[in-house]
Amino acid sequence: MKRLFITGGSGLLGSKFIRFSDKYEVITTYNSNPRDNAIKLDITNDEQVINKIESLSPDVVVHSAALTNVDYCEDHQEEAYKINAQGTLNMAKACQKVDSKLIYVSTDFVFDGREGLYSEDHQTNPLSYYGLSKLKGEEFVKDSGVNYAIARVSVLYGWHTNFNYVTWVINELKAGNQINIVTDEYNSPTYADNAAEALLKIFTKDKKGIYHIAGNERINRFDFARNIAQVFELDPTLIKPIKSEDLIRKAQRPLDSSLQVRKAEIDLDIKLLNTKEGLKEMKGDVKK
Ligand SMILES: NC(=O)c1ccc[n+]([C@@H]2O[C@H](COP(=O)([O-])OP(=O)(O)OC[C@H]3O[C@@H](n4cnc5c(N)ncnc54)[C@H](OP(=O)(O)O)[C@@H]3O)[C@@H](O)[C@H]2O)c1
Repeated sequence: MKRLFITGGSGLLGSKFIRFSDKYEVITTYNSNPRDNAIKLDITNDEQVINKIESLSPDVVVHSAALTNVDYCEDHQEEAYKINAQGTLNMAKACQKVDSKLIYVSTDFVFDGREGLYSEDHQTNPLSYYGLSKLKGEEFVKDSGVNYAIARVSVLYGWHTNFNYVTWVINELKAGNQINIVTDEYNSPTYADNAAEALLKIFTKDKKGIYHIAGNERINRFDFARNIAQVFELDPTLIKPIKSEDLIRKAQRPLDSSLQVRKAEIDLDIKLLNTKEGLKEMKGDVKK
């Protein structure tokens, strides 16, 4: 059995790899939130990282762990660098040493959002420290000499113990609360279960380089919230439109960081789901 090693197993995306346990030996890690059968690993500790990777010698490492709170990163730049950039360098060095393939999960926030529908080779220009620290991670991976792929995802959603955009909207609407949502921020919301499948295919098809693994759609937050209300049969009138300039946030967001996913769909022979498709699958999951 091939061995998969998933950092960030206690996070949304990392938790979706457990489902592959029938065909692979799946090892997941956590840092501060223990999960059943996951092992503790702090990616900022280079000794811990090298020891773990050397002793397990996985066939592939999906490096999904990160400090993902964009505003928190803006205020805690040293910590963000340590986890998102240095932590990724630690993973890359360890993988290179034992010849494990590394798939690094990056973000649409490496772009400045002035154009949208970005292709993999478009010029990066992050607006936030989070985006910058993740981009630094990309550079470390590229320069390390490891056999790598970089998978950029965008607004992840799916069932998880922690809130994400979709579970937050569902909760608020179920509670009958009015929510104010921006109409002028576009991205390509990514169903985490679908992204995990695509990431696995990067490994099984031994693809290299950069891939945009995101939903096949450019959509703004407001329309996305309306789709959530529609699919989950909740009250759409509770969703009120606002502009991003009405929000006070620490970090600047790209206005349009939507991603082109054609390369991934063709090379990986996979359908990347738009929001209605992803939300319907997610709704089906409730019944399972
Ligand atoms: N969420 C999004 O909308 C989004 C959008 C674009 C890109 N991404 C990228 O996609 C990836 C997955 O995101 P996600 O939303 O699934 O993440 P998440 O739910 O926020 O989980 C983050 C994970 O990173 C782990 N982690 C944090 N600090 C760590 C450390 N020092 N050592 C080891 N593990 C550490 C956490 O472990 P503990 O909880 O156990 O501490 C957790 O498992 C990330 O690389 C992120 O940058 C996410």
